[in-house]
Amino acid sequence: MTERIGLLCGWEDSFPKAFIEGCNKVPGIEADFAKIGGTAERFTSPYRVLIDRISQEVKHYRFHLKAAALAGTYVVNDPFWWSADDKFFGYSLVQRAGVAVPRTVMLPQKDYIPAIDKHRSLRNLEFPLNWESIVDHVKFPAILKPADGGGWRDVTVVKSPAELLRAYDASGMNVMTLQEFIDFEEYVRCICVGKDRILPIQYSPARRAYVVNDNDDWIDKGLYERIIKDSVTTNTILGYDMNSVEFAIKDGVPYAIDFTNPAPDMDIWSIQEKYFHIVVDWMVDFAVKLAKDKSKTMTDTYRWAKLAGPQPDPMARGK
Ligand SMILES: Nc1ncnc2c1ncn2[C@@H]1O[C@H](COP(=O)(O)OP(=O)(O)O)[C@@H](O)[C@H]1O
Ligand SMILES: [Mg+2]
Repeated sequence: MTERIGLLCGWEDSFPKAFIEGCNKVPGIEADFAKIGGTAERFTSPYRVLIDRISQEVKHYRFHLKAAALAGTYVVNDPFWWSADDKFFGYSLVQRAGVAVPRTVMLPQKDYIPAIDKHRSLRNLEFPLNWESIVDHVKFPAILKPADGGGWRDVTVVKSPAELLRAYDASGMNVMTLQEFIDFEEYVRCICVGKDRILPIQYSPARRAYVVNDNDDWIDKGLYERIIKDSVTTNTILGYDMNSVEFAIKDGVPYAIDFTNPAPDMDIWSIQEKYFHIVVDWMVDFAVKLAKDKSKTMTDTYRWAKLAGPQPDPMARGK
């Protein structure tokens, strides 16, 4: 029997092609770009596994994926958790699990949707804000960045109260975090597959580029092991099977900076050929194992798990 793996992605090119080709080399597996049209409230998803790299930008894909999970498809990454996740919850969570994070304060947003009358609607907002205690916890220099950000948008280094207020006043409706600036000696980005396969790669934030190293001596062995351990902890606790986890290293301590990236960049030009092939092999292997192992479900943790499973699809072609 053939098991199907479907890929959802945007205009990225190198990863999708290599991934689909790799899966299709495996006997008993058929992989392609998933096609999503009208979705009935009851349906049998033709896919055993769907790999999602785009639903953050295409809303109806996300809704379809949640329904597909209910119908018994294993969706990578979990669309329910992805919808609920934000960076600030991430910092709060992983520090409890022993991962080092910079001191961080989430701030009330500066502006609101028009339906909110600043004089009447915000009964629960502390005003004025206690900037002194906020700055006292984080200290300068600090980073002001969105609590649910991505793609380096609206990230500012602030070195004084005046700079902080200027950046905060420009932050609009974004929910921002003020975070201790880690004056790092080294920066590492890990590409993670299936929660426990971790590929640490040296990264240069200044050039916004991965650095290729021919051997392993670019990183201290103990630090390497801690990074692997912290990455596994992070992926396991968040439930992500495909992620990238960033660490800024200062005084030998890896501080987790950015680790909720459920559609990480896997393009050959950014992660470089050497790492690209490893990542593609891991993704193929992971997806194929999931497709072949029927005992793997992704809904066990949800209250509605006992209602999950396939149903006849009234809109299936030919019926
Ligand atoms: N606390 C911090 N200390 C030092 N540099 C930081 C810190 N937070 C972010 N940065 C820098 O800003 C970049 C973007 O921030 P990040 O949290 O990764 O947001 P994004 O999700 O937009 O990539 C990081 O790659 C890092 O270079
Ligand atoms: Mg980042």
